[in-house]
Amino acid sequence: MATPTLTKLPRHLAIIMDGNGRWAQERNLSRIEGHRAGAESVRTIVRCCRRIGIPILTLYAFSKENWQRPKREVNALWRLLARYLQSELNEMLGNGIRLNTLGDINELPSSVGDLLYKTMAKTSGNREMILNLALNYSGRSEIVRAARHLAEACVAGAMRPEDVDEAAFARHLFTAGMADPDLLIRTSGEERISNFLLWQIAYTELYLSPVYWPDFREPQLMEALADYQRRERRFGKISEQLVKEA
Ligand code: FPP
Repeated sequence: MATPTLTKLPRHLAIIMDGNGRWAQERNLSRIEGHRAGAESVRTIVRCCRRIGIPILTLYAFSKENWQRPKREVNALWRLLARYLQSELNEMLGNGIRLNTLGDINELPSSVGDLLYKTMAKTSGNREMILNLALNYSGRSEIVRAARHLAEACVAGAMRPEDVDEAAFARHLFTAGMADPDLLIRTSGEERISNFLLWQIAYTELYLSPVYWPDFREPQLMEALADYQRRERRFGKISEQLVKEA
């Protein structure tokens, strides 16, 4: 297994968890079985990130576009999420994990919404790690929502149009106050962003894994982190400038 150095870890790791359906299909299982196995990967990866000290982990669990899936599958996803929240609460409390959501969670079934709000309230004092679940999330809607907030503030006279800058914009995103992702992993061999964190990933390193999400466990995460540590992040500068700054 590739072993990453534990000193150069991403401050924020984001993951597009893809391939549950294909994992199941290859095993003649239902798509829902694939999501169930995917939920096990969520447990493992959260635990692992907490153990090695990644401060923010963001998981793309349900996009706005995912509502178009068969109702049975959508309902099964909510049930899995509810079960996950119930079974992991003690672990979150014991390990200092704060649950947060990105997306319009008021549009979720009320049973799941209530559970999310309760879990967020109970874990709100935790400081070791933030677990962001993107639920009913769309990067474009998030950007439009921020633009609307800023427009409303200008109309109300609380701010001037010339005060709208990148920092002000970022304060109106679901990730307000958080570092942008350093690394974005997408599993299952697909090479798309799928409307995820469009603003936040401007300078994020991408890691595309061929492995389906249910098979993405600790060894695959370590490989991705080791790969990330070999990258040179220049943020528009040239290598020589980075050496001087170090
Ligand atoms: C993408 O695979 C996966 C999803 C849309 C749902 C992700 C959900 C989980 C991992 C389980 C529950 C979540 C939590 C937080 C406990 P896909 O269905 O699009 O796979 P396919 O492209 O192979 O069909």
